[in-house]
Amino acid sequence: MNPLLSRLQPYPFERLRELTRGVTPPADLRPISLGIGEPRHPTPDFLKQALAGAMDGLAVYPATAGELPLREACASWVQRRYGVTVDAATEVLPVNGSREALFALAQTVIDPTRDRERGGPVVVSPNPFYQIYEGAALLSGATPVFANSDPARNFAADWRQIDDATWARTQLLFVCSPGNPTGAVVPLEEWKQLFELSDRHGFVIASDECYSEIYFGEEGAGAPLGGLQAAKALGRDFTNLIAFTSLSKRSNVPGLRSGFVAGDARILKQFLLYRTYHGSAMSPTVQRASAVAWNDEAHVAENRALYRAKFAQVTPLLSQVMDVRLPDAGFYLWAGVPARVGGGSDTAFARELLAQYNVTVLPGSYLAREAHGGNPGTGRVRLALVAGVEECLEAAHRIVSFIKNHP
Ligand SMILES: Cc1ncc(COP(=O)(O)O)c(C=O)c1O
Repeated sequence: MNPLLSRLQPYPFERLRELTRGVTPPADLRPISLGIGEPRHPTPDFLKQALAGAMDGLAVYPATAGELPLREACASWVQRRYGVTVDAATEVLPVNGSREALFALAQTVIDPTRDRERGGPVVVSPNPFYQIYEGAALLSGATPVFANSDPARNFAADWRQIDDATWARTQLLFVCSPGNPTGAVVPLEEWKQLFELSDRHGFVIASDECYSEIYFGEEGAGAPLGGLQAAKALGRDFTNLIAFTSLSKRSNVPGLRSGFVAGDARILKQFLLYRTYHGSAMSPTVQRASAVAWNDEAHVAENRALYRAKFAQVTPLLSQVMDVRLPDAGFYLWAGVPARVGGGSDTAFARELLAQYNVTVLPGSYLAREAHGGNPGTGRVRLALVAGVEECLEAAHRIVSFIKNHP
């Protein structure tokens, strides 16, 4: 057996199941889960029809590089959304959702034989973080190193916590913007610092942008800055930069498994080679429906409007009782637990809330690791506002009652 498998950590939801084992929530309150970050708005009908109408082509194996019309649809989207030109032939690749691609990129770019005498390769990740970053690093033979988020700076990761000797061993940096769970968008100034570090140390930047289309700033002008867009604004090319974009949240199709990566053509050439052996070609049916999705923005604006309305109603309710505010983007609230409930413990809060009000939330400490003297998720919970507005409001009212009625 691959010994690296034993280094994988239990997934946060397993830990939550363990935490709430033996809890019997009140039977008269229907269960509401704000735990899992899975979109629950309906898939638009025209996308279902596009899928159903794209059944031809199943009799042949698809190419791993994808069909040109899909790659052109992705490239056109990047142009419209970010004002950035990418070459559909060499700078774009379809992927079966960003999760597998984030994992696979680490397997492609990490050289586990380098820097052995200095402790081996490093992958730098924000903390808290999307759990795949850590697993991808571990299974590639690298050591994950974390930069804690700083609540005083809009939850920006404090990259200064990584010392020069560690940057020198770094082969891959994960950036998550908009962030899961914090909802923070990386500003241009931070990108500038990250690009300088990448230039100095030669590491690859994987920019995970799967929440880019769910934002709360001004429609259009307030859309989150993307990694490729930041590179262009700073007068750079895409050297050592790969951006990950997904249809899952944008178009409410997490079950479709469709996204794309764009950026450095040199890396994508090797990534394509890796993917050919791994067997990650996208089904032609999914490819054609995906092109339809990338070419339509009306359904994305409608979806965003639903999140805007939901967050506008839920956030002020919760901010009466918790340290929480509207994030830049994404569909999470990253809420501070009041000290008078369970001493401010995120795990005690999650357990008691379920026990008394049948609402599931995810303890923040499960999404982060102990680093630099603390766990930056401690004392916060992640609330995924993915259900309909009524259900999210009901959950918020129950949380308010839970906190207000706490002895
Ligand atoms: C930060 C982040 N990146 C990537 C993904 C993966 O999304 P998908 O594989 O559906 O594109 C998720 C899913 O929850 C996520 O939260």
